[in-house]
Amino acid sequence: MSDFFVNLGTNRTARTVIKKLGLPIPLPQQLKRATGPWEERPLHDQPVLVGHGSRSELAPVLAGTLAAAGASAYVAGGEEILRSYNELAEAWGRPPVALSGDLPSEELRPQCLVFDATAMEDPADLAEVHAFFHAWLRPLRACGRAIVLSRPPAQARTPQASAARRALDGFVRSMGREIGRKGATTQVLYVDEGADDRIEPILRFLLSERSAYVSGQPVHISATVNTDGAKVPYQRPLEGKVTLVTGSARGIGAAAARALAREGAKLIIMDRASEEDAAAKLVEEIGGTWLACDITNPEAGNIIAKLVEERFAGLDIIVHNAGVTRDKMLANMEPERWDQAISVNLTGLIAVNERLKALLRDGGRIVCLASIAGIAGNLGQANYAASKAGVIGYVQALAPVLAERGIAVNAVAPGFIETKMTAAIPFATRQVARRLCNLSQGGLPQDVAELITFLSSPGAAGMTGEVLRICGGSFVGA
Ligand code: NAI
Repeated sequence: MSDFFVNLGTNRTARTVIKKLGLPIPLPQQLKRATGPWEERPLHDQPVLVGHGSRSELAPVLAGTLAAAGASAYVAGGEEILRSYNELAEAWGRPPVALSGDLPSEELRPQCLVFDATAMEDPADLAEVHAFFHAWLRPLRACGRAIVLSRPPAQARTPQASAARRALDGFVRSMGREIGRKGATTQVLYVDEGADDRIEPILRFLLSERSAYVSGQPVHISATVNTDGAKVPYQRPLEGKVTLVTGSARGIGAAAARALAREGAKLIIMDRASEEDAAAKLVEEIGGTWLACDITNPEAGNIIAKLVEERFAGLDIIVHNAGVTRDKMLANMEPERWDQAISVNLTGLIAVNERLKALLRDGGRIVCLASIAGIAGNLGQANYAASKAGVIGYVQALAPVLAERGIAVNAVAPGFIETKMTAAIPFATRQVARRLCNLSQGGLPQDVAELITFLSSPGAAGMTGEVLRICGGSFVGA
């Protein structure tokens, strides 16, 4: 579904005229999106500027991450910090450039800004965060990234440290509003002590073009999920992984199936029998096994389990994507409408998952589709919002139970995504809904697909029980 105003914004003359005349016409920045499979060096030759507080706990991790991803690092920090960068970067043949002070230089237009705030102990230390971003936000490139790393507020040793850490959440969400106009995004990563070795793949994803529609998102990185310490693959990370995607004949599910298959997954494409034609086309395109099955069928779990046992002997990834809306104001909502949304989106999902979790191999991944309606609520969607909030509750309770087996369980909460579902919204309402986020446009199914694919990968081991919004930094909701 194309967005007239995003297209208009790509026309240089139209942009200039609209700006000069001061017309109240939105001109969202067209987002840069990665195409094709994951690369070994997603930040190849990109200038990434790293700032550090007075001390830095993460300099070695950041230096290693940026060098391995192929970035050109520019480092603002003391000698000790620079030494970490020099040591690691030399191994990759990418020596960093030291910046004197925080002052921007004329030529440098960073693609990404990263600030390590892990040493912050007091709200007064926030001034360092302000100084860094104040100096560098203007030269940040269109569709750039701005990321702050901190320790979690809940693990602070003093109330002052907790306050300083929590302040970053509000800071980042507000910064996202400002830089969203140029298609840039921002997140805060709260990293548990002892989880520093889980940062690299997550940071790599968030700095890359694959996270184009994730913004204003706090991400908690933990060492909760067991790993075998094996090296995380960055190319074809899902090679041979048996992957079930429910409701994958069309929309976000089909986009997810394509992205997962592209990274090497063996797909089970499951949907209602009525979607057989669309599913057949998809199987022709990406391969995989078609399974006609309604998730509300009490036998659905057994039907899927039988196929898995007969054909694959185990399952590695489950993406619970099947979903429906049955909107109506609560006062007018008949029980059937209530039941349909709850049974597809929540009780069906739980029943199938409870049956399949024994078949899930150690190191597996579960990704459940929630919605920002499940976080913020939405008019006329009491059933849908209840079901999606229920999904979040399920994910949060299941994550610690499966962590010992190395299985990560996360929820994805899309905002306004351009699919058949949102194309059915009346024109004027749709135009308004698209603009209600930092990036002033709807996301694409492929944006959600990239996030699902990342959460399905071995590198997502640092995240479990998380709810990742993919909403362009929506103004509505958390
Ligand atoms: P869609 O309507 O295009 O696709 C949903 C798929 O689920 C369809 O293929 C459908 O046949 C399948 N499905 C429905 N009931 C089923 C059942 N009983 N058994 C098996 N499969 C069933 O929707 P879209 O937009 O692709 O949504 C995918 C997921 O993302 C859903 O869970 C939805 O709630 C969620 N989501 C979508 C948003 C959007 O803006 N499009 C926003 C927030 C969440």
